[in-house]
Amino acid sequence: MSARSAGTGNEPWWESAVVYQIYPRSFRDTTGNGIGDLRGIIDGLDHLVWLGVDALWLSPVFRSPMVDHGYDVSDYCDVDPLFGSLDDLDELIHKSHERALKVLLDWVPNHTSDQHPWFQESRSSREDPRRDWYIWRDGDPDTPPNNWTRAFPFGEPAWSYDENTGAWFLHLFSPEQPDLNWANPDVREAMHDTLRFWLDRGVDGFRMDVIHGIGKNPALPDLSDELAVIPATAFNDEPVTHEYLRDIRVLLDEYPTRPVAVGEVYLLDTAQVATYYGDGDELHLAFNFPPMFSFWDAGMWRQNITTAQDLITAAGNWPTWVLSNHDNPRHRTRYGGDETIARAAAVLLLTLQGTPFLYAGEELGLEDADVPPERIVDPSGGRRDGCRAPIPWTPDPGHGWEGPDPWLPFPPHSDRLNVASERDDPDSMLHFYRALLGVRHGSDALRLGSLDLLDAPDGVLAWRRTHEEDERIVLVNFTAGSQDIDRLTDHGVEISSDATRAATVGVFDGVLRPREAVILSPLGGVLRDV
Ligand code: NOJ
Repeated sequence: MSARSAGTGNEPWWESAVVYQIYPRSFRDTTGNGIGDLRGIIDGLDHLVWLGVDALWLSPVFRSPMVDHGYDVSDYCDVDPLFGSLDDLDELIHKSHERALKVLLDWVPNHTSDQHPWFQESRSSREDPRRDWYIWRDGDPDTPPNNWTRAFPFGEPAWSYDENTGAWFLHLFSPEQPDLNWANPDVREAMHDTLRFWLDRGVDGFRMDVIHGIGKNPALPDLSDELAVIPATAFNDEPVTHEYLRDIRVLLDEYPTRPVAVGEVYLLDTAQVATYYGDGDELHLAFNFPPMFSFWDAGMWRQNITTAQDLITAAGNWPTWVLSNHDNPRHRTRYGGDETIARAAAVLLLTLQGTPFLYAGEELGLEDADVPPERIVDPSGGRRDGCRAPIPWTPDPGHGWEGPDPWLPFPPHSDRLNVASERDDPDSMLHFYRALLGVRHGSDALRLGSLDLLDAPDGVLAWRRTHEEDERIVLVNFTAGSQDIDRLTDHGVEISSDATRAATVGVFDGVLRPREAVILSPLGGVLRDV
């Protein structure tokens, strides 16, 4: 089955969907313990329907000792009691489907928790039948088998020595997250079973954690000294992973619901990321992170767009666009906090060619929380705590979270930037996202169309999206000054990021306000060449 079939009217659902990422600990708490849970997500579904997203991706809710807040799984086929029960998750899937929302779970195939029974057995003795389910190497207890370093804490070896059996085991993340040995067919089969378990319960697909990590070079060669200071996960790019992905794809394709595989391919080169779509027979979608590390700069974004076109779209695959997630500072914070930039960025994210991923709270315009040293909980040393702050639902000091302080402090300005206050304010960021999602839903060109970059003044990006008769033009002014675009005055402004234009939306007057982004539609007939 080919990856996609744009323009045939039979496009897979995930191509036009907007996916909303929920970090369950931080979304909504119904038990008063300061940690979000599945019933909280169920309570929030109507809000997400009102907002207008199409799919939810839940960061891991499986059983876990929570060393990495769920990315250390001790049972792939059960829900951690902290988040609720399997029944709660079944209900969440059911109620989401009733509301036409798809549900993606976060599958963590590269490593388990060290508390997973598989690892407990594996480490128990060299003769254990599961010994080879993880990556063990002999060697001098003072010298790790190679020079790879782990993702956190940064710079530490990717190996730990296990006294019990006198051997080293590999962990690209913390020592409590030993890497599975995917070269062992029994491991592959067991992990396939975990996918089937959830597909049979009705989930619509998976976000696949560090999926490029699962295949390892059996020689485990050293990195150069220069590279070895960077976490080894950034370099693991082995041909055998593509074989494993093809098997996973065959499994997914057995399901008539067209479940999606969205892979986290944390390789910082889009050319490498692109290979994980295979020949339309591996991932459906791969996160392409270099744009997330770009500044708010027209030149950089032009480059991001052409790179995605040349390396992903041109090969018949469908890009993804992400500005924020649970591992990086929120884009509003990265771009300097300015609300006008955050609004323009929303236009960019929701009008590029590809599947956009929103990170819960960006629709409120949230910035990262300030997390004092005594409240740091992230094993990376706190680097990711700020973006994981709880979602404020109400303006009062508890922000809809009953009980003691939630697990992390609230983001700044939560008295203003919260769901209830923003729903009451038609000029809020939340209403802007909703309106933007509405415009996107109403246009095949914006959801599915091709993208052509147009000439534009320095500091402005302009592109046209086209799908059959439907066309839109998007203009994004990255500069702090006005910009004249005199050609497009036969177009109407469908939506603008600039609240001062909102009152006068109508025919485009040929001037972009400072840091403004607009979606234009032809006033009549087909767009002329610009
Ligand atoms: C990537 C996830 O996004 C991150 O949160 C996690 O710590 C690592 N993978 C390890 O699972």
